[in-house]
Amino acid sequence: MPTFLARLEAARPLDRFAEALRRVAQATAGRGRLGDVLHGRPAGHPLHPAVVQFPVGAWMSTAVLDALPGRDTPGSRRAAAALLTAGTAGALPATLTGLADYVTLTPQQRRVALVHVTANVTALGFFAASIAARARGDHARGRRLSFAGLGLAGAGAYLGGHLAFAQGAGANHAATALPLVPSGWHRLDAVGAIAEGKLSSYTVGDVPVLVYREHDRFSALVGRCAHQGAPLAEGRTLDMDGDACVECPWHGSVFRLADGRALRGPAASDQTRLRTRVRAGHLEVAQP
Ligand code: FES
Repeated sequence: MPTFLARLEAARPLDRFAEALRRVAQATAGRGRLGDVLHGRPAGHPLHPAVVQFPVGAWMSTAVLDALPGRDTPGSRRAAAALLTAGTAGALPATLTGLADYVTLTPQQRRVALVHVTANVTALGFFAASIAARARGDHARGRRLSFAGLGLAGAGAYLGGHLAFAQGAGANHAATALPLVPSGWHRLDAVGAIAEGKLSSYTVGDVPVLVYREHDRFSALVGRCAHQGAPLAEGRTLDMDGDACVECPWHGSVFRLADGRALRGPAASDQTRLRTRVRAGHLEVAQP
């Protein structure tokens, strides 16, 4: 990893600003049902990476028109200004989905996200200034401003990639455990030893497995929370709309025990399930 990224992840002096942004994000895009939708829980994963495609694509297209010969023809100028305006307007949903994700991050991730947000907000300022310059008829200045904005947005995108892929922000931390479950069926326990209506905890390979029994039905989930990997066996069971659920002990995500469906965030992904069967009076599990 480049040294400056390691330093950025460890830059505690940023925490004061990161916490202030977290409060703003919580108040604007992180609350209740709206926060869940913006974060992407109904979709099964964060929406932000998909939503940013529109403004970035529009800004890139503007840059292509601005760089081509013939850029000073009226048609090309109008097309570039229209794309730039559409892309800048499309930054609103991108910002809201990003803020909803922001409240779910760890402190180390928030430091990187703070700079990611700062780069993108500054880029938006350049794009807005470019729109104004073009409207005044100063197209040369408008082009310079939007090229500068694109450079900043590119730097922001680089940090966004680091957040998603190097720091695992928004990743399903249960799914990453699944390949560690050895192939084939694994015997967990005698059926009679598994209490009804309680969370039972086992390990297969190095993977924690959470088992729930309701009469003669068994469900098994990866025991590491999809959000940030908390031990779900330490959570509490609760009833949500008639379904038995487990609430994560760290940040309160709620998963339906029968199928792992995420009913409440901050987890955007469902909890990964394992297959179950009963053989010779014993519960066995396997990868799906
Ligand atoms: S680790 Fe955050 S909700 Fe489970």
